[in-house]
Amino acid sequence: MEVGFLGLGIMGKAMAMNLMRNGFKVTVWNRTLSKCDELVQHGASVGETPAAVVKKCKYTIVMLSDPPAACSVVFGKDGILEAVCSGKGYIDMSTVDADTSTKISEAVTSKGGQFLEAPVSGSKKPAEDGQLIILAAGDKGLYDEAIPIFDVLGKKSFFLGQVGNGAKMKLVVNMIMGSMMNALSEGLELTDKSGLDPHTLLDVLDLGAMANPMFKMKGPSMLKSSYHPAFPLKHQQKDMRLALALGDENAVSMPVAAAANEAFKKARGMGLADMDFSAVYEAVKVPKQP
Ligand SMILES: NC(=O)c1ccc[n+]([C@@H]2O[C@H](COP(=O)([O-])OP(=O)(O)OC[C@H]3O[C@@H](n4cnc5c(N)ncnc54)[C@H](OP(=O)(O)O)[C@@H]3O)[C@@H](O)[C@H]2O)c1
Repeated sequence: MEVGFLGLGIMGKAMAMNLMRNGFKVTVWNRTLSKCDELVQHGASVGETPAAVVKKCKYTIVMLSDPPAACSVVFGKDGILEAVCSGKGYIDMSTVDADTSTKISEAVTSKGGQFLEAPVSGSKKPAEDGQLIILAAGDKGLYDEAIPIFDVLGKKSFFLGQVGNGAKMKLVVNMIMGSMMNALSEGLELTDKSGLDPHTLLDVLDLGAMANPMFKMKGPSMLKSSYHPAFPLKHQQKDMRLALALGDENAVSMPVAAAANEAFKKARGMGLADMDFSAVYEAVKVPKQP
């Protein structure tokens, strides 16, 4: 099966590589074209523009940073709308809000194309290993056709109904994750400032009912102030912002998530936007007394 792939960031690159490893022919495009080089060395073709990729491929997968990025490849010059038509499937796996997804869906389907949103849960390593959790919604026929793709990219895919439902589910999941990361950061700092060893806290947590892979994986690197990005902090803050907007829409009070968002914003202000989201720990730390 030949697929197009737009967006070769941390996730997109890993996912496109995985598809090629599993026998898919992949045509890639990235705004910064040089990022295509490594994929080409592994057998990918390059499309000059998003429109060129859609023209060539029956299915095009997209993995871009945020709503403006997702819209720009659709509505911009040489964008998707210039090529999408009946018989083409467009699968947006970026994390965006339901309104953005709906706007893109309406534009694609108005040209006769099929649209599926399919944001993912899982970070760089699960993307490399084909262990993502896929939260799809939109055109059920396209979902069924895309199963061989999802089987390679993920360990489980959900079909959640109408467009927007996948986006909403993803935002809820990441809202919880962002709040958990803040709780862990505060716990580590409180342990440290109380004269206890934060490593021991991680051991205690790992043995009890709060044990989880995220604390186990991120905790030790946070204690080394090592924040090589798997999930960039700027994207986590975007997800908190979009989840809080969903809360506004539905009159759901979310004081924990709102406080977590403030900490991610503070971390961005400290220049940590491109670090891993666990770098929020630095924003939570009590400054050293002079
Ligand atoms: N990393 C994770 O752990 C993870 C997990 C689940 C979901 N996600 C979600 O997956 C998406 C991608 O995440 P990522 O970690 O791969 O991000 P990333 O490494 O920052 O990559 C972002 C991609 O978006 C492109 N882009 C940004 N603005 C653009 C624009 N205006 N027009 C065209 N392309 C644009 C970038 O192109 P350039 O190379 O030219 O900058 C790059 O290809 C995000 O929505 C994120 O929230 C990430």
